[in-house]
Amino acid sequence: MVCLAYIAKSEYVSTGTEWREMDNEKNFTLRVMTIDDYDDVFALWNSISGFAIRSIDDSREGVDIFLKRNPSTSVVAIADGKVVGAILCGNDGRRGCFYHVCVLKDYRRHGIGREMVAFCMEALRKEHINKVSLIAFTKNDVGNAFWNSIGWTKRLDLNYYDFTLNTENIIAFIDN
Ligand SMILES: CC(C)(COP(=O)(O)OP(=O)(O)OC[C@H]1O[C@@H](n2cnc3c(N)ncnc32)[C@H](O)[C@@H]1OP(=O)(O)O)[C@@H](O)C(=O)NCCC(=O)NCCS
Repeated sequence: MVCLAYIAKSEYVSTGTEWREMDNEKNFTLRVMTIDDYDDVFALWNSISGFAIRSIDDSREGVDIFLKRNPSTSVVAIADGKVVGAILCGNDGRRGCFYHVCVLKDYRRHGIGREMVAFCMEALRKEHINKVSLIAFTKNDVGNAFWNSIGWTKRLDLNYYDFTLNTENIIAFIDN
């Protein structure tokens, strides 16, 4: 398991396993997400205003399938004994993808999002994946500010296409 803990920004503490980050006010750790995290992660998703939750893809069974195909690249952030952040991250053998990147509201702006992204990108590199992408709704000002600020490229030269293969995979938007 990969974890790192920082006591203050840029200072770490080794805990025997590997830890990721903490800071002075909001100590947190990162580790690979497993299906045992599902209930906590699902509750987190349901607290995120604007999130689109899909009835099949985001069910326990759907997430289990995803994590079985991608067992080492998704992440949870733990603080105060609970899951406060998560990214579903996988790849198709060529490109990486991120889904449901989120941090619990009270824990934002402490570097958790940035560190989770770094954690997943490192996990993808270990799988020899050379590029990663994600979808951000155009009206998601916070999400777009985040991706821009951490150095991701907003593509203006392409259109996103999709096709629904299963109409029973119904979307519910979280409106908190
Ligand atoms: C986007 C999100 C994951 C960021 O998590 P976070 O832990 O707050 O992010 P970080 O603290 O690592 O922020 C890194 C940088 O992103 C930028 N940023 C983050 N939130 C921002 C905001 N609300 N407004 C402007 N810039 C922001 C800042 O430059 C920040 O660095 P700084 O705090 O040193 O100024 C979190 O706000 C969230 O869960 N939002 C709701 C879900 C969502 O929109 N997800 C993205 C879907 S595409």
